[in-house]
Amino acid sequence: MIKLLVTGGAGFIGSNFVRYALHAHPDWHVTNLDKLTYAGRRENLHDVMDNPRHTFVHGDICDAAVAGPLVEAAHYVVHFAAETHVDRSIMAAGDFIKTDVEGSFVLLEAARRSPNLKRFVQISTDEVYGSVPEGSSVETDELKPRNPYAASKAGADRLAYSYWATHDVPVIVTRASNNYGPYQFPEKILPLFVTNLMDNIPVPLYGDGGNIRDWLHVLDHCRGIDLLLHSGVNGEVYNIGGGNEVKNIDLTHRVLKLSNKGTELIKPVQDRKGHDRRYSLSSAKLKAMGWAPQVPFEQGLAETVAWYQQNEWWWRPIKERDPNYRAYMDAQYGKRG
Ligand code: NAD
Ligand code: TYD
Repeated sequence: MIKLLVTGGAGFIGSNFVRYALHAHPDWHVTNLDKLTYAGRRENLHDVMDNPRHTFVHGDICDAAVAGPLVEAAHYVVHFAAETHVDRSIMAAGDFIKTDVEGSFVLLEAARRSPNLKRFVQISTDEVYGSVPEGSSVETDELKPRNPYAASKAGADRLAYSYWATHDVPVIVTRASNNYGPYQFPEKILPLFVTNLMDNIPVPLYGDGGNIRDWLHVLDHCRGIDLLLHSGVNGEVYNIGGGNEVKNIDLTHRVLKLSNKGTELIKPVQDRKGHDRRYSLSSAKLKAMGWAPQVPFEQGLAETVAWYQQNEWWWRPIKERDPNYRAYMDAQYGKRG
C-alpha cells in the first residue's frame, strides 16, 4: 500500500485532494495531518472520515514530535497546510511566518530522515511572482512577493528547493493560480459573494474591481498535483494555471447573474493595501507533460455557485456562529463599510 501524507487536508484544496486521491488510487492510504485552525473543518471531510484508507490526525505541522514520524512513514508528502488569507496576513502576519515558513521547515527536516520518501510536493502559489502587469509568469521568473502571505509562501517555496539542492530531498514545487470549487472558506471572494447574495447582503468589491485573477478549478489542480507525483522531476518548479483571467468586477457580474440578483448589491469598498493588480501563469511546462484544465470556467463557476446555494448546512454555521469568523469580518469589513 502506498502511503500518502497530506498536510492541511481539512482545508479547501486539501480536502478536495484527499477525496480525489482516495477515489483515484484505491491502493493508497492517506494520512491527513491538520491543526483544524479556523479554516480547517471536519465537515470538509464528512464523506471520507470513515474511509478505512483515510486516517485523520489532529496536529500541528510545527510540532516535530507529531509531524516527524508521519513524514518518516510516507512514500509521498503533499504539503498544503498554511495560513492562506492575504487580508488576514495584512492584519497580523505572525501565524503566517510560523506555519508557512517554520512548519515547512519542520516537515523538510523530517523528510531528510524519511527512508521511503519518493516525493515531497511543496504547494506554493502564483502570488510569489508578485503583480504581473503584462505577459505570464514562467517558473524561472524572479520572485517578487508583495504581501506577507505571499512572502511567507515564497520563503517556504525556496526553503523546500534548498532541501532538494542541499540534502537531495525529492522536492517538487507547484505554483497554482486562484482555485475555486466546493468547501472554500467563506472569507474568500467567491464563497463570500455567493453566500452574501443568498441573503441579499451587499458584496464588498475592493478598489475599482479591475484586479485580475486566473481561476483554476480545484479538481484540475488535484489532477496536476497527481501527475507531478508520478511524472515530475525532483528539484523542479511547475506552474498550474487555469487559463481563465477574469477581472473581479466581471466575476462579480457573473455571480450576480447566476444568483439572479441585481448590480445594486455591489458595494465598492476601500482597496486592499498593496493589492496585486494581476496574476498570470504560463502553464506550458505542465501542459508539455500532458496536463490541461478539464473544467470549462462557465461550467465550473455555475456548478460551484450551485454547490454553495445547495449546501447551506456547510457555510451558514461558519458565517453565523463562528466567533473567529465574526471577529475577522468586523475587523475587515467594518472599517471598509
Ligand atoms: P485553507 O486556508 O482553506 O486551508 C488550510 C488548511 O491548513 C486548514 O485545514 C488548516 O487547518 C490547516 N493548517 C493551518 N495551519 C496549520 C498547521 N500549523 N498545522 C497543520 N495544519 C494547519 O487553504 P487552501 O486554500 O486550501 O490552500 C491550501 C494550500 O494551497 C496553501 O498552501 C495555499 O498557500 C496554496 N494555494 C492556494 C490557492 C487558492 O486559491 N486557495 C492557490 C494557490 C496555492
Ligand atoms: P481572494 O479570494 O482573497 O484571493 P487572493 O487575494 O489570494 O487572490 O481575493 C481574490 C480577489 O478578490 C482579490 O483581487 C481581492 C478581491 N476581493 C474583493 O474584491 N472583495 C473581497 O471581499 C475579497 C475577499 C476579495
